[in-house]
Amino acid sequence: MSLLRLDKYISNTTGESRSRIKEILKAGRVKVNGETVKSGEIKIDESKDEVMLDSKPVVFERYRYFLLNKPAGCVSATKDKLSDTVLDILKNENTADLFPVGRLDKDSEGLLLITNDGMLSHELLSPTKHVEKVYRVVLDKELEEDDRLKIENCIDIGDDKPCLPAVVENLGNKEAEIKICEGRFHQVKRMFAAAGYQVLYLKRIAMGSLRLEDDLKCGEYRKISIDEIEKLRRRV
Ligand code: URA
Repeated sequence: MSLLRLDKYISNTTGESRSRIKEILKAGRVKVNGETVKSGEIKIDESKDEVMLDSKPVVFERYRYFLLNKPAGCVSATKDKLSDTVLDILKNENTADLFPVGRLDKDSEGLLLITNDGMLSHELLSPTKHVEKVYRVVLDKELEEDDRLKIENCIDIGDDKPCLPAVVENLGNKEAEIKICEGRFHQVKRMFAAAGYQVLYLKRIAMGSLRLEDDLKCGEYRKISIDEIEKLRRRV
């Protein structure tokens, strides 16, 4: 059984600040198990108590998952002194305990999982789990076949160990798709750089079982369903 203060319970679900919730409670808009409650301090058992705000059920979600199509220009962090962060894009949600799972560079775009589930994040980022990530890149020149093979086969990017094998598909027109199962710093750019190419554009299109759909535009996000999370979890 897990108990949670009423004000925390409501703020988690609605994204309202604690002070706003105090006002809402004071105004008598909240009922717990049919009784009007004006104090935020009472403890709620999420498995059995029924909380209603303005006669609508408030359903607590301990873990929340969002799939963001990150635009270039914002940083994959929860706070930054100079730039917008990916959490600024989710400003209509309660972002207090949310964080991005891993990083995309400031100039990179694409799939970023945002959650408050530390355990799942840990698993997805663990170097032992080898979660697959797929990136689409635009290069400064046409990719040669011998270089494609070099990048696929444990290319040395100057770290202690060479990279694990990757899958690289040449899409023509200076474009390529690369699948890797590690998450080293600037890894994709460094893999291509080690073969003599500059990555001019980089977008992550998949991570584990999650894929970026075409209808989720750059800068947009959506909630991830529990079914999708279960599938992702099975991969790790
Ligand atoms: N590899 C990179 O070089 N940059 C990213 O943002 C992600 C993977």
